[in-house]
Amino acid sequence: MISTDERQARRETLSKAVGRAILLMGNDEQPRNLPMVALPFRQDSSFLYYTGCDEPGAAALIRDGECTLFLHQVGEGDALWHGPTPTIEQRAGALGVSDVRPADELAGVVASTLAEGPIATMAVSDPGRTQLASWWSNRALAFGAQHGDDDLVDCVIAQRRTKSAAELAELRAAASHSAAAHIAVAQAARPGATERGLAAIFEGVLAARGCVPGYGTILSRRGEILHNRGHAGTLTAGDLLLVDGGGEVGSGYTADITRTWPVGGPLNGRQLAAYEAILQAQTAAIDLCRVGVRYREVHDAASRVLATFLRDVGILNCDEDEALETGAHGLFYPHGTGHLIGLDVHDLENFGDRPSYPADRPRPTQFGTRSLRLDLPLEAGWVVTVEPGLYAVPDIIYDAKLRVELGDRVNWKEAERWVGFGGIRIEDDIAITAGAPENLSWQTPKSVDALKTLVGSGPTVEQRLGVVGVPA
Ligand code: GLY
Ligand code: MN
Ligand code: MN
Repeated sequence: MISTDERQARRETLSKAVGRAILLMGNDEQPRNLPMVALPFRQDSSFLYYTGCDEPGAAALIRDGECTLFLHQVGEGDALWHGPTPTIEQRAGALGVSDVRPADELAGVVASTLAEGPIATMAVSDPGRTQLASWWSNRALAFGAQHGDDDLVDCVIAQRRTKSAAELAELRAAASHSAAAHIAVAQAARPGATERGLAAIFEGVLAARGCVPGYGTILSRRGEILHNRGHAGTLTAGDLLLVDGGGEVGSGYTADITRTWPVGGPLNGRQLAAYEAILQAQTAAIDLCRVGVRYREVHDAASRVLATFLRDVGILNCDEDEALETGAHGLFYPHGTGHLIGLDVHDLENFGDRPSYPADRPRPTQFGTRSLRLDLPLEAGWVVTVEPGLYAVPDIIYDAKLRVELGDRVNWKEAERWVGFGGIRIEDDIAITAGAPENLSWQTPKSVDALKTLVGSGPTVEQRLGVVGVPA
């Protein structure tokens, strides 16, 4: 739980750094075709960070550290359709805010505040709310191109990027609930199990533990499709089931954990060799997650181990140095090693690369490395993922342009033999501390020995869901 005192301290820090009035907009409800049927609501993460308020259509005006919260008043008919609702004073009081006004007074208050001086604003994840804030505060905020007033955005980034003890406790809880979901899926993973049923177990266990998925659960025997959202497959013996999922706790903090489970028996020859190399890459990368180390070094450490593996199995003809220089390892490792995590799975990425790259060093352009989402020296309190993997993606292995670029650094015939391998990724959430890195997601098993006893060892999908004996 994040205390109201901690949120008040966050607002005071922000207010002091920005030195003028700040308008924070929350997200509003988004209709799914018609207004009365809304998409699942998720508050804007920065609004949640400063206010703890997860109501749609709320706003906050912060002046000299004092917060006025604008909330929708209980309307006629609410008692009938939505049940008893506390008053705005009660709702704001629970958030530790005593100054509360009806939401429809916001425009007037913004106008009178503007008469005294400028108001700092920033884009929020709901474009409608950004436009409204922009219009009220009479300034041009181009959503997507610009993120708001730079000093405000930079302060939000700095505050949110460094997690407090209470935030780390939330992230530990999210990882722990997610471990239970991953373990349940591993136990049920066997030939004949459907991806949809396994996804139901994953999300069902999260729900039983008070969580919602922090992002769309990736659960697929086609793990080489990196952000595969489909759950249409049925497992067969010899498959690799890649599960990238994490639970979000009530306060909004999420885990982001990937495991890859062998179906119908232990990892086979090349699966085992690849899995061990990825585990070794991950161990080397996690060990570098220390104060002052540039995240690019973490990425390079993982890439180096994977490049060595690719050379050892005869896919690469060049050594690790040449592979890293030319990006040849990207053929099978085409993404970055990790990113910031917190209230969002890719934390703060609504602000583009501003939270994760220095202003004077844009992203690299090389295939693979250009997908590295973070390259700053790490600081205590930051939480990052470390998620190396290997994937046989036919469209990349047969990519004509890459074949010319990488030339005979790659044994293309050998690379083609891996088509059908699928994908393996191992992902953990790592807190940077003054000392050794802390693996927040340690409870989700990943050793080769643990997999042997865990996978397929428990109730089937039907047994878990209690539908045994009910005709389909
Ligand atoms: N779950 C998306 C990622 O790992 O970045
Ligand atoms: Mn991730
Ligand atoms: Mn992930």
